[in-house]
Amino acid sequence: MRITIVGTGYVGLVTGAGFAEFGHHVTCVDVDAKRIEMLRQNEMPFHEPGLPELVRRNTMHGRLAFTTNLKDAVTGSLAVFIAVGTPSGEDGSADLKYVLEAARDIGRAIDGYTVIVTKSTVPVGTADKVRAAVAAETTHAFAVASNPEFLKEGDAVNDFLKPARVIVGADDQRAIDLLRDLYRGIMRTTDRIQVMSVRSAELTKYAANAMLATRISFMNELAAICEVVGADIESIRKGIGSDPRIGPKFLFAGAGYGGSCFGKDLRALAYLGRELDVPLQVVNAVDRANERQKRLLGERVIKHFGGHLAGKRIGIWGLAFKPETDDIREAPALSLVEQLLAAGATVIGYDPVAVPNVRALLGDRIELATDPYAAAHNVDALVLVTEWHELRQPDLERLASTMRSKVLIDGRNVWPREDAVAAGFIYYGIGRPFVDPGRR
Ligand SMILES: NC(=O)c1ccc[n+]([C@@H]2O[C@H](COP(=O)([O-])OP(=O)(O)OC[C@H]3O[C@@H](n4cnc5c(N)ncnc54)[C@H](O)[C@@H]3O)[C@@H](O)[C@H]2O)c1
Repeated sequence: MRITIVGTGYVGLVTGAGFAEFGHHVTCVDVDAKRIEMLRQNEMPFHEPGLPELVRRNTMHGRLAFTTNLKDAVTGSLAVFIAVGTPSGEDGSADLKYVLEAARDIGRAIDGYTVIVTKSTVPVGTADKVRAAVAAETTHAFAVASNPEFLKEGDAVNDFLKPARVIVGADDQRAIDLLRDLYRGIMRTTDRIQVMSVRSAELTKYAANAMLATRISFMNELAAICEVVGADIESIRKGIGSDPRIGPKFLFAGAGYGGSCFGKDLRALAYLGRELDVPLQVVNAVDRANERQKRLLGERVIKHFGGHLAGKRIGIWGLAFKPETDDIREAPALSLVEQLLAAGATVIGYDPVAVPNVRALLGDRIELATDPYAAAHNVDALVLVTEWHELRQPDLERLASTMRSKVLIDGRNVWPREDAVAAGFIYYGIGRPFVDPGRR
């Protein structure tokens, strides 16, 4: 099937390459000419495991192409996916300007019946706005469907090729049939397509993100209780995660969630609640709790050094908002850097892939190391923010010989606490009893 994807970000590019892998002919469109030129040269605009191979293979076989010319791409396409950004507006609402701009462009370009599919995360009622925007530009028949995306950055290719479910929101049978056909190759073992109303599909995406974020904030709040009463959040995580009604995923206490989705989507959902006069108290509390959590590591460092950090060097391991991505949007590490700098510290950061993005954002306000132990050299404390595999088991002897003072702040509870204490480090975790080897 010939299709077009509008927007070649994390979602659009993975979706386009994924559909091409199943034999469809896909054209990916973006307004960012530099990004399209990179893709034509087989260079990836961001880090995503498995994506370069997928893009290369399908480009080589002539099933995947890139252009800035939306009209050429859309002409002859049976389905056009909108996968552009939906950032937070100032009031927390989802800003639909890119979605509606794309819809108008698509309306001007279609040359026969076309299914226009919103893959971007959009508030309930957006399909109606997309329909109106397209209708204002064309006399051709078309349908609007919602097909929200649930991929996780860092594992996006797997998530797209082997989705837990595919949500299709549509009222038009022809659109439903076409989307079923499009996803047929992906659904070989079991049919995981769930068809529902457009509004239900739009809301399902927000519900999923709000539920996942709720679990994280809930555990973070429990972690704070643990620290006061001397309990260990890791025991509690295992204790409740083994209950099949709860399950083990998304129960890690840590430095707070980041990324381009949870915060933005919770704010958009909360805004929707306010607009509809339906109080969403849980959603509001989850976001507030996360904002507080993102400051926890910084406060811990500042408190440890008596309230100010002038003359202190603090190392940070992991800057991306989570492992296996170079995405730093709303990353907890960025909040930490700002707190440390404001308290007068010199900050040295390391990340396996996010360094160029951090450099572009922060310039020389932060020192960036190309090796984790270089980021620990002569530091007064080392903070783990993003638990990349390579950062989970530090060489404690090497750290002890290179750090100026032996203070470890483990923002993900992955470092070997007992070993660290035995090696003379002061160790702070999240929601775990504080251990100072000097006072044992
Ligand atoms: N990133 C994720 O993990 C993820 C997961 C699920 C859903 N989503 C949702 O998917 C949407 C896209 O997210 P993303 O992270 O891929 O965004 P992104 O910022 O990485 O990419 C968006 C792309 O759209 C392009 N664009 C903007 N306006 C355009 C237009 N009129 N025509 C063509 N291209 C245009 C931009 O240049 C950019 O390349 C958002 O609504 C997001 O909430 C994201």
